[in-house]
Amino acid sequence: MTSLKTTIAGLELETCIYNASGPLCTTAEELDDLGQSMAGAILSKSATLEYRAGNEKPRYYETGWGSINSMGLPNEGYKFYADYAKQAAQYGKPYIVSVSGMGFEDNATIIKHLAGNENIKAIELNLSCPNLPGKPQTGYDFEQSRALLNRVFEVAQQPLGVKLPPYFDMPHFEMMAEVLNDFPISFATCINSIGNGLVIDTDQECVVIKPKKGFGGIGGDFIKPTALANVRKFYTLLKKDVDIIGVGGIKNGMDAFEHILCGASAVQIGTQLMREGTGCFARIAGELQEIMNKKGYSSINDFKGKLKDME
Ligand code: SIN
Repeated sequence: MTSLKTTIAGLELETCIYNASGPLCTTAEELDDLGQSMAGAILSKSATLEYRAGNEKPRYYETGWGSINSMGLPNEGYKFYADYAKQAAQYGKPYIVSVSGMGFEDNATIIKHLAGNENIKAIELNLSCPNLPGKPQTGYDFEQSRALLNRVFEVAQQPLGVKLPPYFDMPHFEMMAEVLNDFPISFATCINSIGNGLVIDTDQECVVIKPKKGFGGIGGDFIKPTALANVRKFYTLLKKDVDIIGVGGIKNGMDAFEHILCGASAVQIGTQLMREGTGCFARIAGELQEIMNKKGYSSINDFKGKLKDME
């Protein structure tokens, strides 16, 4: 019998496929939908100290190959995601809160508040939102990342992982891995959307989203090779007890298979979740199981990280 069970951050997931922190995980209704779906975990929208309306609309645009967004972290504020944990518990799968404070002390305040909550099973610290006007992505500043991790590990009690931006240059993979290997992080999620792209409506000769003069994070098909490279690199560079979570360009079972082959212990779905709704989890799970059956694999550990180099 083919199993999609996995373990991340010491937590058991019935299936290795769940949502990315981004689309359809902001309100209680959306989180309930994830709970009732075949997703292996429930991951919240990135929480800030206060409620945020986010950037001006239109701020999300979908095209044949994927999406561009500049949402600007619309969310209900961290207390909402802490309180929702009790409701999440009924679904019998891990509830993970994404945290994206606007500064060190915001992050520390949020993570300290979450610490006593037994229904929050892990924290994903977002180092990589490309959509906050005037705010650089922390993950591209290695010293800032180190200082932030120093601060949050003073207060964190649950397993804590990081959501990374895409890296493109070999020394940058190594520099970030060196920072992360100095902390007891439980997982690294690779990658956030590729910022800052520009999509154009050629009929109107105009940008397609309003914030930041049309610049935003790119998701979907084109980001898969970059996502796979980041999964693979961090799988080889990070300490062996750090789970890699793959996200970027996954719309079917074969995409999920590729991420796991590169070293992912679980995968998250962003653009395709937005496109298809929560039914995507069962569909992608079925497709992945079919591929595994054909190849004679009974669990994801049979092929996880086993990508071959050419002779
Ligand atoms: C956003 O809300 O702007 C997207 C979330 C992210 O990229 O971290």
